[in-house]
Amino acid sequence: MSRTAFLSTGFHVPARLVTNDDLAQLMDTSDEWIVQRSGIKTRYWVDTGETGVGLAREASQKALAKAGLSASDIDCIIYCTCTPDHFEPGNGVFLQRELGLTDIPAVDVRNQCSGFIYGLSIADAWIRTGQYQNILLVGAEVHSRGLDKTTRGRDTAVLFGDGAGAAVLGPIDDDGRGVLSTHIFADGRHAEKLWVDGPGLAHDPYVSVEMLEQGLHRAVMDGRDVFKFASLKMPESVAIALAANRLTPADVKLLVPHQANLRIIEMVQKAAGLRDDQVYNNIQKYGNTTAASIPIALDEALAAGRLKQGDILVLTAFGSGFTWGSAAIRW
Ligand code: COA
Repeated sequence: MSRTAFLSTGFHVPARLVTNDDLAQLMDTSDEWIVQRSGIKTRYWVDTGETGVGLAREASQKALAKAGLSASDIDCIIYCTCTPDHFEPGNGVFLQRELGLTDIPAVDVRNQCSGFIYGLSIADAWIRTGQYQNILLVGAEVHSRGLDKTTRGRDTAVLFGDGAGAAVLGPIDDDGRGVLSTHIFADGRHAEKLWVDGPGLAHDPYVSVEMLEQGLHRAVMDGRDVFKFASLKMPESVAIALAANRLTPADVKLLVPHQANLRIIEMVQKAAGLRDDQVYNNIQKYGNTTAASIPIALDEALAAGRLKQGDILVLTAFGSGFTWGSAAIRW
């Protein structure tokens, strides 16, 4: 049976750079507070006319070009986002149309910060069984339009950025390389700890002026609980990935964690028993781009020469739901 390989990666962020000082013009916050609590210095936000699908198209085209493939070589799209352009249909079909494709499946994955690992798990199963050959796996988000950019929303608004990352996945003969394992988890008891309540069909009417006045359409978060669970579940999932493949922390060439918060990543690194040079961070530049953060960081790490053929790469993520997971890959 074949294994799943990353044939290429690519990413795209909007041109508009937003600094912490820019945010301090909009709300009561400071560069010092944001850097100390999260490590974030800048993030990118879309401008008028830009959409999540547009960012995803750019990232996908870069990944396809690097793989030496054209869009017509793709036989399945998996699109991971928690910030879709529309309620329905999902972003996958819009991306398909942008890439000039028809008659292939376009799957939408709604697992927030864990979306890319959930998507990878699905893609890996399909490629290994031969159902699809070349899968375009995309994580793309536009958070900026949904954030409450006033002091009321400052605990959340300063953390998130816009961006897209893509990977082209395909089969390789099993010579020990490729995706070794994926492990995905969820615990819906914590669903309201990081969520957007409405508009939603649980409400009747599903959208109202009152709802908007209350700010139910903004993401709200119990930051302390998210922090606590993320720093526990991400290293736990790394340990599960290593144990499943009889690997030790010393075998890991690179951990690419979901870029949620530099303090969380530092705790994950420590709990997982990894050195600084074994972990890739870029949250300082992009903020938390949710499902896009792992493919963006992975593409940057590859460009920086941080992975060579045969190296062990581990991915881990945690997010709203709560959802979390890990993947181990021999590059
Ligand atoms: N700027 C300035 N002050 C802020 C602020 C901001 N952007 N956001 C919150 N504050 C204030 C609070 O109002 C509070 O003020 P008070 O003491 O007068 O009430 C104070 O800072 C401390 O707030 P607190 O919420 O206790 O801070 P914290 O140390 O828990 O840090 C987070 C807040 C959000 C940075 C932290 O909880 C966190 O990183 N959580 C995880 C978030 C995350 O990664 N989410 C995505 C996961 S995928």
